[in-house]
Amino acid sequence: MSDICKNWTQWLKQTRFSHMSEVQVQQTFNWLFAVRNIVIEKANIKAGDKIIDIGCGTGLLSFGVLEKFQDSVELIFSDKFEDCLLECKKLLEESNIKHNATFLQSDCLDIKLPDFSVDKALTRSVLVHIADKQKAINEIYRILKKGGTYCAFEPIIKSNTRYHELTTPNEITDWRAFKEAEDDFMSDPNDPLTNFDAQSIAQNLDLAGFSDGDIDVQDTPSSYIATKEAIKQWFDSAPSPDRPTTKQRFLKYFDEDKVNNYIFEVQNALHNKMISVNSKTIFIRATK
Ligand SMILES: C[S@@+](CC[C@H](N)C(=O)[O-])C[C@H]1O[C@@H](n2cnc3c(N)ncnc32)[C@H](O)[C@@H]1O
Repeated sequence: MSDICKNWTQWLKQTRFSHMSEVQVQQTFNWLFAVRNIVIEKANIKAGDKIIDIGCGTGLLSFGVLEKFQDSVELIFSDKFEDCLLECKKLLEESNIKHNATFLQSDCLDIKLPDFSVDKALTRSVLVHIADKQKAINEIYRILKKGGTYCAFEPIIKSNTRYHELTTPNEITDWRAFKEAEDDFMSDPNDPLTNFDAQSIAQNLDLAGFSDGDIDVQDTPSSYIATKEAIKQWFDSAPSPDRPTTKQRFLKYFDEDKVNNYIFEVQNALHNKMISVNSKTIFIRATK
């Protein structure tokens, strides 16, 4: 884990919001709840279903399921990391939700469940952190019962607006070299964050054996006023506890003075300007 963030619970509860204003935090929660509701709706959950939330984190999907279905379903909170399961246990104990829930510490590449175990498997923003997505999807297929459904949400990070697209060569020293570095690390085939898109996930589903993999691709444009402080945070925040910050990524290509100067120039170019960015996301639904 990095020195910026000690574990996933800290990342989910604090780090990911560190560069946001209160309004942006609220908007992010609204968006997270909307995403969670879509994933749960697509799963078409019925009373009696056995459901696993793989990579449950602090329980976004699990608590969404429990709030709606309570103890009429069997729910497994599952994560590779103990801190996440302890946090979910604490939240569940503090809630008054009637439930039939269990906890499973398990890597999604080797899920500690027999074949044909669950009716529904759910994930949100988990595959994006797994280098071998085929292996994870094969495991999900293996543990589903025949007719069982996998539903998920993933951000397609390689399609996000890039820093160099927000600036011009007139504003940035060595703009082209920074563009090339950014394009290089944003399409790194060994980086779990960037080594996939909607087509590759569709292929993963097919190869795993899913017969009707459906992928709904969505664009989310947004515009806001950038500030120097927020721009500094773009470069200093980690996408997960174990991955480098954007600044650290640029340091693989340039020395520290050059990267600091780049950040300084991006801050000057964009401070107090309205910027427009786009991100691409996918919703997955597939039946065994
Ligand atoms: C971005 S968080 C998403 C958490 C939660 N699903 C949500 O929607 O808030 C990614 C989660 O994947 C989990 N994770 C990372 N690698 C994993 C692995 N190999 N197996 C299972 N879970 C993993 C992390 O512990 C973390 O909880």
